[in-house]
Amino acid sequence: MNILHIDCSPRPESHSRQLSAAIVRLLLGVAPDAIISRRDFAADPLPHAAPDYATTLSSPATLAAPLQGALDLSEVLIQEVEAADVIVIGTPMHNLTVPSVLKAWIDQILRAGRTFMSTPAGKVGLLCDRPVFVGIASGGVFAGGRANQPDFLTPYLSVVLGSIGLKTLQFFPLQATAFLDANQAPLAREKALAAIDLTVVAEAPRLTTAGGE
Ligand SMILES: Cc1cc2nc3c(=O)[nH]c(=O)nc-3n(C[C@H](O)[C@H](O)[C@H](O)COP(=O)(O)O)c2cc1C
Repeated sequence: MNILHIDCSPRPESHSRQLSAAIVRLLLGVAPDAIISRRDFAADPLPHAAPDYATTLSSPATLAAPLQGALDLSEVLIQEVEAADVIVIGTPMHNLTVPSVLKAWIDQILRAGRTFMSTPAGKVGLLCDRPVFVGIASGGVFAGGRANQPDFLTPYLSVVLGSIGLKTLQFFPLQATAFLDANQAPLAREKALAAIDLTVVAEAPRLTTAGGE
């Protein structure tokens, strides 16, 4: 089993990093031989969409004749997703949604004709589904009865990853971190992960594209 493990927090002692690490440990419990690929978008951020990339993506005609090298980074990142049986993401909530370093990754892996088809009814994913576990840390509360802010993070990730075929998402929010001290954090993390469903890992088809390569 291949795990793609992504972190996004700029903070070394981050709650979302600890959540994603705990998720990877749980996965190793059911698949001890798993191979882990690592992306730390805070330590090693991706560039924002470059001019040649944006120009190539700007129309079906330019996509059919891409500028030289314009799709190279996108291709590397898409192939990492295709090689992963399971994806684990640790992310903070930044201004109600994902941090810009995670958005930079999304901008590279959503590509018409490669990971989705544009149809009159909307995007149709071209990648095979696989489980995506997302550990989220937020300073305040965005879910449940005590929520005092909108959540543009979980619906956004569900729609963008769903649009390329990744539909089996599980979210693990660790909320109100602003009010959590170091002693409370491990228990809060455990509670956040209590509902994790690892059965989706055993059931995941080992295919790289929806077409069944
Ligand atoms: C730029 C920035 C924006 C933030 N925006 C929000 C927000 O919209 N809602 C929220 O609840 N917390 C917000 N926070 C607080 C973080 O979500 C919180 O500190 C969280 O624990 C960070 O994740 P980490 O511990 O993995 O670094 C923000 C923090 C930063 C640095």
